[in-house]
Amino acid sequence: MNPAQPTPHHVAIVMDGNGRWATRRFLPRVAGHKAGVDTLRRCVRSCAQRGVAVLTVFAFSSENWTRPQDEVSGLMELLGMALAREVPQLLKDGVRLRFVGERAGLSDSVRQGLERGEQATAANTGLQLNVCFNYGGRWDIAQAARRLVAEGKPITEANLDRALALSHVPDPDLVIRTGGEQRISNFLLWQAAYSELYFSDTLWPDFDDAALDLAFAAFAQRERRFGKTSAQVAGKAARPQPA
Ligand code: IPE
Ligand code: IPE
Ligand code: MG
Repeated sequence: MNPAQPTPHHVAIVMDGNGRWATRRFLPRVAGHKAGVDTLRRCVRSCAQRGVAVLTVFAFSSENWTRPQDEVSGLMELLGMALAREVPQLLKDGVRLRFVGERAGLSDSVRQGLERGEQATAANTGLQLNVCFNYGGRWDIAQAARRLVAEGKPITEANLDRALALSHVPDPDLVIRTGGEQRISNFLLWQAAYSELYFSDTLWPDFDDAALDLAFAAFAQRERRFGKTSAQVAGKAARPQPA
């Protein structure tokens, strides 16, 4: 491994492939989403053990509302159940949970469940877990711009950066997408400007520690140049600050 590129500080994951995982087993798609929650629980622990400080996962996109009604309601129900079951353990493990996305579009019970999870873990100082739910990169940029306009602030990169939904964490170092597709699907459009991208054919429910370690090993081999030349960055990675 290249010691110049340590474990990523912030890892973001498009958890894709739950539906295909279930279909291959002749199960309803929601069974794949349930298995995906189990994978996420393990992944949170594994990331914390490996020294990752921030984990951001894509759980439900702005566009996922267009799925069949029974899948959408199954996902909403699963979120509520997962929160009730997982938050006590997250609390013990020191994980700080945050939701990133458009809350106005969610039902009262889903929104209250999310906010209870955030409040319960607010004092935790371990791994920061951002769950992107009813999230889209375009929504985020538009809401940030609207906020700046309302506050009478100029639209600069630094102001936009501060108004975005993930302003509490640095940009992701590594973006992983499981499930074999090589696209961004409206995830972190702004924040992934200089992230290393890693695509895995493994379907999310099967994404185990060995698969995570493969992603980290690939990351360790990358040279992050941030627009500079290889000679300039030799020896240390440069991270530009927003203007
Ligand atoms: C990702 O898995 C989870 C969500 C989008 C909610 P998918 O449900 O997209 O699984 P595939 O891509 O159909 O296999
Ligand atoms: C991206 O996966 C969204 C999540 C994983 C939550 P999709 O399955 O919705 O993406 P597309 O439709 O294949 O691009
Ligand atoms: Mg998918």
